[in-house]
This record gives sequence, structure tokens and C-alpha cells, in this order.
Amino acid sequence: MERNINTILVTGGAGFIGSHVLRLLVNKYPKKQFVNLDTLTYAGNLENIKDIASLPNYHFEKADIRDVAELGKLFDKYQFDGVIHLAAESHVDRSIENPLAFVETNVIGTVNLLNAAKNLWKDDFSNKLFYHISTDEVYGSLGKTGLFTEETAYDPHSPYSASKAASDHFVRSYFDTYDMPTIISNCSNNYGPNQFPEKLIPLFINNIKNNKSLPVYGDGQYTRDWLYVIDHARAIDLIFSKGELGETYNIGGFNEYTNIDLIHLLCDLMDKKLGREKGSSRKLIKFVKDRPGHDKRYAIDAQKINKELGWKPSVNFEQGLSETLDWYLANETWLHNITSGSYKDYYKEMYKERT
Ligand code: NAD
Ligand code: TYD
Repeated sequence: MERNINTILVTGGAGFIGSHVLRLLVNKYPKKQFVNLDTLTYAGNLENIKDIASLPNYHFEKADIRDVAELGKLFDKYQFDGVIHLAAESHVDRSIENPLAFVETNVIGTVNLLNAAKNLWKDDFSNKLFYHISTDEVYGSLGKTGLFTEETAYDPHSPYSASKAASDHFVRSYFDTYDMPTIISNCSNNYGPNQFPEKLIPLFINNIKNNKSLPVYGDGQYTRDWLYVIDHARAIDLIFSKGELGETYNIGGFNEYTNIDLIHLLCDLMDKKLGREKGSSRKLIKFVKDRPGHDKRYAIDAQKINKELGWKPSVNFEQGLSETLDWYLANETWLHNITSGSYKDYYKEMYKERT
């Protein structure tokens, strides 16, 4: 890390992306201290980071970013000089059911964190950084052509993306108003080990494994730009180390797939790995009622981070997807622990009109 920042708060480190970020940073920077602040919602799972839990530069604090008093105590206790903020409610379908939860964590929680950092740092912002992790979904939906750049105007459509857009605006406003050193990155859809099976890829892996139907929303012609989670973690490390203050960086996989093409690829790979007859998983596909406000296409122009910081994806999609499937098949207990309890109620409720 090139910045002289030594005590770093990582929020949401028990979640999917946060756990990969922490694994990378804690191992790479043994002299820096990392504090994982996570309230452990349904999506937070300490199993995700058990391999680093006993390292001397890793600490865990179970705390909620909605709780101002708790944040104040932790900023006092550790005197953080850096923040990497990932904690969020992250699933679009849940945001459609309960938008307020997304306002509370994603918007108010982010402002609480900005205030906690501002109160501790006062006006001495040298060697300080507040780095906010966001999504390409804030830019809205693309037509058949074009890419999201850092200059694309915000146009969110789901309560999730609206809450992330609002949080991005607040972060920028603290840079403009208080000179707080901030950076934002907006990344495309991630996939990889440890993703909660509510998102497309792990949900479909789990369903194929259990011979359950595969609920494809609408006509399946929606496009996403997929990036392996470890490549996102590498980008976050680079941006935190060398990114320019006040700047935004788009991160993407240069890897667009329509949902249906991706699902076919996934089905065929699963058939091979499970030793099933070719074509058998495709038979599970069921076109179901569409998601309301469904964004047609996301695609990132990641040239800025490539040119300025030298980042590019290191894992090609077929290889990453294959490794992801291997991970889910080898980690049955992880999947079982997650899908055996309240997940069943979630699934029933979310898919009741669809399956
Ligand atoms: P996730 O849902 O897997 O993890 C979120 C984590 O935040 C969980 O560990 C959860 O317990 C914690 N959390 C939630 N509410 C909290 C609160 N009030 N206080 C403290 N902790 C809380 O999410 P993810 O997919 O790892 O996403 C991480 C970040 O990256 C989010 O900000 C998300 O918007 C962003 N992002 C995600 C993707 C993606 O494809 N998953 C893409 C781009 C950006
Ligand atoms: P998702 O993984 O929820 O990510 P996001 O909505 O943030 O892009 O969904 C990816 C795509 O897959 C999206 O177009 C919605 C679609 N999808 C389905 O068709 N069926 C499903 O059961 C889910 C969860 C998603």
C-alpha cells in the first residue's frame, strides 16, 4: 500500500466481496491493522473469513453502521486512518420488498460512517482516506450499445440502486463540502466463492444441484457484465493504495452475457461436473414473471482504472465460473448451513408468484 494509512476499518467484511477484500489485504499487509465491522445480517457469515480470523493484524467487531453511538466508540477505540466501506443491503429483489431497510443501512449508515470519520479526523485529513464501494447499477440501464463511464449521469431504477446512488452523492458531498479525502468505485456484477445464494449464479448452482427449477426472469435477454470477485478485490487494493482523491473509478469485467446465455453455460458446466447427461440441467429452466423495473443492460467502460492504475481482470469468465462451481460443490456444509434455516422462508416468499 503506497499510502501511509495503517489502521483500516473494513465494513461488511463478513459478506461476499468484503471477505475476499479482507483476505487479500490482511495477508498482503501484515504490518497494517484491519478491523472488520459487520452486524452479521443474513448475508454476513464469519465462516467466509475463518482462515484469517486468528491473524494478529485482523480484528472483528460485531456492530451496526446504523448505530451512531457504537460507531463513535469504535472510531475512538481504534483511531482509524482509513475506511473501506462495503457494508450494505445488496440484493435488488429484497429492496423491492423492503426499500426502507436499504435507506437505513445504505444511505443513513453511510452518512453515519462519514460523520464518525469526520468527527475523529477533524480538519486534519493528511494520510486519511474514506473509500466507498458502489455499483454500476447507479447509472441505470443501457440500450443495445454504449458503456457506463465515470461521467455517465446517475439514473437508478431499483430501491437498491437508488439507495447506493444516494450514498455515493453523500460521499461526494463530503469531499466537496468538507474536503474529506474520499474515493468511490462503481463495479459491475461480481461472482465467485462465498456469494449468498440469492444472486443469480449461486442460486442457480444450488437449484441445479437439488434438481429444482431455474427461475429466469422475463425473457432472459437481460445483460450483465460479470467480474470475478478476486479481480474486484485486486482493484479495491489498488484504488485504496493509489487512487486519486475525489475521483471515481469504474470497475468491470469487459465480459457481457445475456442471462440466458450465461444460464446455458452454467447448466452445461454443471452437467459435466455432476456427471449428468448433457442437457439435463437446461430442462430445469423456467421462464417466470419478470422483476419490476428490471434494468435491461449493464456494461462498464473500465479504461480509466486500466490506464491510470494499470488494473485489468486476471481471470477469464469460463475459468472463473468453473472454479466457482468447484468451490460450491466442494463446500456443501457452507451451502447447507446457509440454505437450511430462514433461507427456505425467503425462497418461498420471493418466488411464490414465480414458480
Ligand atoms: P453482501 O450482501 O454479501 O454483504 C454485505 C455485508 O454487509 C454482510 O456481511 C452484512 O452482514 C453487512 N451489513 C449489512 N448491513 C449492515 C449494517 N447495517 N451494519 C453493519 N454491517 C452490515 O454484499 P456484497 O455482494 O459483498 O457487496 C458488498 C458491497 O459491494 C456493497 O456495498 C454492494 O453494494 C457493492 N457491490 C456489490 C456487487 C455485487 O455484484 N455483489 C457489485 C458492485 C458493488
Ligand atoms: P442478480 O444476481 O440479482 O444481480 P443484479 O440484479 O444486481 O444484476 O441478478 C442478475 C440477473 O439475473 C438480473 O438480470 C436478474 C436475473 N435473475 C433471474 O433471472 N432469476 C433469478 O432468480 C435471479 C436472482 C436473478
